This record gives sequence, C-alpha cells and structure tokens, in this order.
Amino acid sequence: MTEEKNIDNGIKNHYISAMNRVIAKANSNIALIKYWGKENFSLNIPAVGSLSLTLRGMETITEICFAENIDEDEVWVNDRQESATTSRVRQFLDLFRQKSGIAKYCIIRSHNNFPTGAGLASSASAFAALAVAANELFGLHLPPVQLSIIARMGSGSAARSIFGGIVEMKKGTMPDGSDSYAQQLYDENYWDLEILAVITSTKEKKTKSTQGMNISRETSPYYPVWVHTHSLDMEEAKIAIARKDFQMLGEITEHNCMKMHSVMLTSRPPILYWTGRTLDIIHLVWELRNKNIPAYFTIDAGPQVKILTTSSYALSILSAIKEMEGVERVIHCPLGKGAEVIERS
Ligand code: PMV
Repeated sequence: MTEEKNIDNGIKNHYISAMNRVIAKANSNIALIKYWGKENFSLNIPAVGSLSLTLRGMETITEICFAENIDEDEVWVNDRQESATTSRVRQFLDLFRQKSGIAKYCIIRSHNNFPTGAGLASSASAFAALAVAANELFGLHLPPVQLSIIARMGSGSAARSIFGGIVEMKKGTMPDGSDSYAQQLYDENYWDLEILAVITSTKEKKTKSTQGMNISRETSPYYPVWVHTHSLDMEEAKIAIARKDFQMLGEITEHNCMKMHSVMLTSRPPILYWTGRTLDIIHLVWELRNKNIPAYFTIDAGPQVKILTTSSYALSILSAIKEMEGVERVIHCPLGKGAEVIERS
C-alpha cells in the first residue's frame, strides 16, 4: 500500500478510504424556473434560486479511482482525454482532498448517454455523479445537502441533480454559500410530468453558461428585473406543483424561460442560443396547445427545446415532432432519481 499524504494538518484524523474504485450515476435535470447569473463567482453562488425536474434517460456514469505515479488528475469524457475540463475537475476534487486529507490524484472516466455541452445540462449530471463518486472514494460520507453544496461548486445546476423528482435550489443568504443548496420538493412518483428533449444540433455551444451569465449581469438592462422578479416565478411554480395544476406550471415555465432569454438577447454582445429550428419547435408547441394538447416549452443555453407534458400526451407529441425537418433526436424523459453510487470495489 502506498503512503497517504496529508495535505492539511488541521484535518489529519479523517478516515482514510479503503475504497479504490467507485462508479456513480446521475441524471441530468432541466430547470422550469431557471438560474442565470452568479452572486459570487468564486463560490459559484447563484443570484437566483431555481426549480427543476430530474430526468430519467439523460445520464452520466462516472468511474473514479485513485492512481499512483501520476502528478495530476486524468479526465476522460466519452473515451476522450480532456485537457480543458481537467483544471475544473482538479479544483473540484481538491475540495475532496482537502476535506479528507487524502492527497492522491485520480483517474476519472465519464460517459454521457446524451450530447455533451449542447445545452442539455451535461455539466449537471457530470458534476453530480462526480460528487457522489468522490464522496465515496474519499470516504467522506457527506449527506446529500452537503454534496449538493459541493456539486454547486462544479456547476450550479449540478447541485439539483443530487436529488430526484422535483427539486428546488435555494439561492441562500450566507456569504459563504453554506445555505445555497438544492432539496427535493417531491419524489419522482409524485406527478407524471415528462420532458421531451428535442435535439436540433449536437454542436457544443459557443458561449459557455458562466461566461454568458457574467456578460448578462454586467450589460443587460433587463438583468436587475430578472433577479428582482424571480422569486415570484418560483412561488407561482411551487403553488402550481402543489396543486398539480399543469397549465399554471406550463405558463410560468414558458414565461420564466422567455424572461431569461430576453436577458441573454439584451446583453452586449447579445447571446443568442436559438436557431431557426428552435423557433419552429416553439411554434409547434403553441400549435399543439391550440389543439388542446398540454405542452409547454423551455430552453437553456443551447438550441434544444425541452417540451413539458404529462405521460398520456408524450407519444402524440413525439409523433408530431418526428415529422419536422432538422430534428436530430428526441429524448423522452420521465422524472428520475437522484445521483447514486452503483458500484464500489
Ligand atoms: O449549471 P450551469 O452553470 O451550466 O448553468 C445552467 C444554466 C441554465 O441551464 C441556462 C439554467 C438552469 O437553471 O439550468
């Protein structure tokens, strides 16, 4: 057995993990009430709360193991070694190294079963899976709320993927971010909500979310209104969910999405993630509603459209979308579980 170095004398007595390899799985999530903007950049504290659905069908599986004879973490995403994400992952794993006192480097292999970096919240499932896997590997046994705080440091939306079902992310009020975490409102069996993620392009987005959020905060005249009115949208969505009022939830979902994209569009330079296809699908969703099919859309930092519906209407919406030109793929997702360890050795 190799020597365990302690990187912080103050936390010397932490449990040294006997585990050497862990595999964890996390589902992605889609926010109905979105987060756009950071209150604290270095602690990644959001400027607003958010409310999301954790989705079965869009997942990341991450394997992590300690490695000897390497002097930095090695990161593989979908079988390709990554250099750009490595420093983000290294900083993230430093949190586990500091808390555990285990100074070992790791090899991380991560697979997404959906397009990466294309506005489908792949960073949410990726950092949630990594947080859960590293928690086990480093023997920390942190409870879900603490893991949510750590996952937030990797990606704001990852804090939500720790939990399944319908999830609220609290913006919090503490300057150190200790009350900025997600929690489950209802589990995945509460309501048969479904998301159809309509993929129109699998290209990686040009403006990363963090960069876009900073530009918006600094330049959009609508940004203060976005922040100021956000809690009203959260409250409305929570009431709609408590009443299982689909129309009310759908209306506030679309409104909040349009408001976020208005902030993006009015940033300087403007941030436009939509394409012509995105607009075609918005129109299709509105046409479906005119035919009394319950469908509402939401869109993140990419051209994909996520259609919110309930289980009995998903197949008829799916067949309407499949008729459309330029749709690469549709991922049909019911609500899913939170992040979990699936293998340890
Ligand atoms: O988690 P991030 O930093 O990739 O940001 C996510 C931002 C949106 O997807 C646009 C909104 C949200 O709340 O998921």
